[in-house]
Amino acid sequence: MKRPWQLWLDRRGRFSMLRVLVLALLLIPLAKGIYDGSAIVHGARPINELIHRAGFWALVFLGITLAVTPFRRIARYGNLVDVRRMLGVGAFCYIAAHLSLYLADQNFDFGKAAYEITHRWYLIVGGTAWLGFAALAATSTDSAVRRLGGLRWRRLHQLVYAVALLALIHYFQQTKADVTVPALAAGLFGWLICYRLLVWWQHTTELSTLSLFALTIAVASLTFIGEAVGIAIAFHVSPMRVLSVAFDFNVGIRPGWEVLGAGLLVVVLDFVRGRWNSRIESKRVVAAAE
Ligand code: HEM
Repeated sequence: MKRPWQLWLDRRGRFSMLRVLVLALLLIPLAKGIYDGSAIVHGARPINELIHRAGFWALVFLGITLAVTPFRRIARYGNLVDVRRMLGVGAFCYIAAHLSLYLADQNFDFGKAAYEITHRWYLIVGGTAWLGFAALAATSTDSAVRRLGGLRWRRLHQLVYAVALLALIHYFQQTKADVTVPALAAGLFGWLICYRLLVWWQHTTELSTLSLFALTIAVASLTFIGEAVGIAIAFHVSPMRVLSVAFDFNVGIRPGWEVLGAGLLVVVLDFVRGRWNSRIESKRVVAAAE
């Protein structure tokens, strides 16, 4: 019988290398934090540095959790679903640390923290995302699925898209000058959310390679436009001027290119896996006919 803390065992109680790798992945930011310990402690604002790190990694793991379903379909690797819950709960652990560190930064003055969280816009948005995240984590157990019933549980867990959206807004709101990383995050989350919308709209479970290609071009273009409009508003310059430097790689690689690159890798993966599967399928048909 598998115990809840035996994270390296799969549902059937067998050792799972995939689970061990995901556990290691989830622990990397913690290990990096310990490794950078001395630099963090001697930095200007150690707790603030830790708040940033925990928030950033929570967002990264939330993104990876959302990527599980599209990736397992595209890579034809069904086993991935076994680590989705682990990734989601891991993301929540980082967001719980994010809030705890914020409270520590406020010297555990809960009255002051509650006032700030309900009066500052970026904290209202972050706090709302946090509550949504907590609801998802609290209902991530097998018994919660049984209690709620499959359909209601799935509906409740669609809250993850609202949480992701609010988390991105919170990220943008507290970013002071350079929006490059938030814009990249928005592009990648945009791809994942638009993928689901397209699946729902086409009444299918699998998108064709052509649809994935069109999705990638559309989301990458929106990332270029979104970043240009954001910079134009923040620095009162023309968005066309910002867009015109997109091809000037000396200025840096814009997030739109990175979204395009990541999306095209997915398109190639889908194409290769599709061809591979149809070759195996035809071999099976030939073998059955002989
Ligand atoms: C009550 C809930 C929350 C509080 C009090 C809070 C508070 C904060 C604070 C104080 C900062 C740093 C701001 C600064 O230095 O100016 C921050 C940054 C950040 N937060 Fe939150 N936050 C909350 C919820 C969330 C949630 C739910 C997420 C995402 C899943 C999130 C992700 C981030 C990210 C990505 C950053 C920026 C990290 C970076 O700079 O790399 N936060 N948050």
